[in-house]
Amino acid sequence: MSLPSPAMLQAVKKTAASMANRSTRFIFNEWYVAAFGNEIKREFLQRTLLDKRIVMFRTEAGVPVALADRCAHRAFPLSRGTLDGDTVVCAYHGFRYDAEGNCVEVPSAAKCPKGIGVAQYRLIEKGPLVWIWMGDPALADESKLPEQAWLTQPDWETSSGYFDLQSNYVSMHENLLDLTHLSFLHANTIGTPDYAKAPFKTEIDDGYFALNRDVVPTTLPPVWGRPTGLEGCNTAARIVRSEFKSPAFHQVNVSFYDSKLVESERQVSRIKTAHLLTPQTHSSSHYFIVHGRDFGQDDESITHFMHDNLFAAFNEDVEGLAALEEVWLNTAADDMFEFSVAADGPSVAMRRYLKKRADEEQATQENPGYAGTDATMPVIIPIRTGQPA
Ligand code: FES
Ligand SMILES: [Fe+2]
Repeated sequence: MSLPSPAMLQAVKKTAASMANRSTRFIFNEWYVAAFGNEIKREFLQRTLLDKRIVMFRTEAGVPVALADRCAHRAFPLSRGTLDGDTVVCAYHGFRYDAEGNCVEVPSAAKCPKGIGVAQYRLIEKGPLVWIWMGDPALADESKLPEQAWLTQPDWETSSGYFDLQSNYVSMHENLLDLTHLSFLHANTIGTPDYAKAPFKTEIDDGYFALNRDVVPTTLPPVWGRPTGLEGCNTAARIVRSEFKSPAFHQVNVSFYDSKLVESERQVSRIKTAHLLTPQTHSSSHYFIVHGRDFGQDDESITHFMHDNLFAAFNEDVEGLAALEEVWLNTAADDMFEFSVAADGPSVAMRRYLKKRADEEQATQENPGYAGTDATMPVIIPIRTGQPA
């Protein structure tokens, strides 16, 4: 039995302590996807993001709004109230809030007291996505949004989906930077036996991590072979670039062509997948996916075929990571350890980066979680006597 020695275990645990995991504090000063734009309507959408209850809706002018989903009075969920014009009326005692989160009416008081309200979070709607900033509002700069131009370019035909992932978001980022699992976890969908052993190159920069893997020559699995016209071709090339762009965004780019043709004669088919991760709790995440291709854009049957097969493969990750999470949740901390191998280089660097960001943010933050007016002290409101003025 090759069980690690106590000294080895101690060293492994010391290394692991420098990497983010399910207990690492969330990074608030980042843009995360709160929802697909078409999910936010003239009715409430309730969602927990970074361990905070949020309620979203659209104003009458169609502008998306996100407020803390808890009344300032007795913390009743605002999402159980009603949307009246652009105001939210709490279903418990009727406090009314405007779209900025300010309380504008207290039915039991003659005059609405000033200075009470709930946190409002900045949103940016871009293409199919609505991004939220839950950190320091002074730092909510649109230029910090990760690059995503292809999501709105007409030469990319897209389809999208969502998983309620029962795993922390760090594990999914690691999964996406670790392509050696394709031959095993995805053996029946997008993986081929040669994948794990194919040569790869990594790029590690501060906040940017990429893995390039060239699988040439190979035989493509049907999900790629059929729509690209390379099914059965044993000289196919599969050139993969997997990029961690931010704590919220991972992009996978793949090119396919027949490697026996000279470059000028190749027909290159490309796909891109945006994997958008937003922590829900420390052991669950919102997993939004947009997948695009630059070939056969007008053929709906390709869209359906690729969507169904790809989402079956993504579901293998979702189920696999939920199983992994369960082990961590149900095993004593002393018994847990992780051994890393050479191929884990980019994901270890990425996890160290997330840990560093979380630690730095905590050290510089005076008001943890930027609770805004969620954290106001109790306010005593004069009792209404008689009719409103
Ligand atoms: S809890 Fe909302 S009005 Fe009282
Ligand atoms: Fe996977």
